[in-house]
Amino acid sequence: MNPIAKAREAVTPGGHTVPDRRSGGHDTATATATATANDSVVALRGAAVRVGGRTLWSGVDLRIGAGEFTAVLGPNGVGKSTMLKVLLGALPVTAGEVRVRGARPGQANDRIGYLPQRRSFDATLHIRGIDVVRMGLDGGRWGVPLPFPNTRRRAARARVDEVIELVGASRYAHRPIGQCSGGEQQRLLIAQALASRPELLLLDEPLDSLDLPNQSAVAALIGRICHREGVSVVMVAHDVNPILHHLDRVVYLARGGAATGAPGEVITSGTLTRLYGTPVEVLRASDGRLVVVGQPETPAVHTDRHDTEGSEHDAR
Ligand SMILES: Nc1ncnc2c1ncn2[C@@H]1O[C@H](COP(=O)(O)OP(=O)(O)O)[C@@H](O)[C@H]1O
Ligand SMILES: [Mg+2]
Repeated sequence: MNPIAKAREAVTPGGHTVPDRRSGGHDTATATATATANDSVVALRGAAVRVGGRTLWSGVDLRIGAGEFTAVLGPNGVGKSTMLKVLLGALPVTAGEVRVRGARPGQANDRIGYLPQRRSFDATLHIRGIDVVRMGLDGGRWGVPLPFPNTRRRAARARVDEVIELVGASRYAHRPIGQCSGGEQQRLLIAQALASRPELLLLDEPLDSLDLPNQSAVAALIGRICHREGVSVVMVAHDVNPILHHLDRVVYLARGGAATGAPGEVITSGTLTRLYGTPVEVLRASDGRLVVVGQPETPAVHTDRHDTEGSEHDAR
């Protein structure tokens, strides 16, 4: 697999378009009541993380219940991908507490489907989409399925077909994945992450290499997986606009701090101004969407968004 780093601008120049809250979404009080410490799929309390000698974020309080859709938002370099790594147990918190399915992070990774940031396939890659999906059951082995007994092999094949159908990829799953479009590849990767029936999906900017119609379609697919199949989703987004109508909750990260809650509570001029310590304005467009103006980028990585295709610099 040859990852191609594709730096993308947010859809809205100079700002970051963010959604109004989904009708019927939870407010913080309701969310706290529905996802108590015991039944939370994810629970963070006063969590902080330090990387390379500096605190990326701190004071993060968050509870995510079954079948809830949470977005992790914030400027480039603020530590969004790092948050997913914390949930996977790949990085410890330096303060506070993190629980995933009631246990320490890393202990329930077989119940988690994870899509890392910026993955795509070289056009000359001949492995079929269906084989990539199958890897979600075979623990990442390329090509050769594990020597399962016949019954397990049949069950595995049925599950692969099932998730391929769920993501709407049946038409192209037998094509070499390198010849599939970005949206098709993304659906196949989501199917791969779903193959082992995870309770929690961690998706790192799964929309960022897609055109607008594909962003909406894949966002709707993820919303369906979350709300209909009961899979909790934590999705990192640079532009949260495409997930406008699907979100239950957001975690907005700023250098050092964080705000969590329903989108309509967190994405306000007052909350973001307090969070960033600099004037940030949230405007409501005529179609009901919110546009954030004045959100500072993290200086150390500000230029990453302007890297040309192929740069590995931001392929974290
Ligand atoms: N293993 C690491 N060692 C040192 N610095 C790191 C490491 N991982 C990430 N960083 C730094 O932490 C910051 C946040 O990274 P990341 O979580 O990838 O941000 P985001 O996903 O919000 O763009 C970046 O400045 C990055 O360079
Ligand atoms: Mg990232």
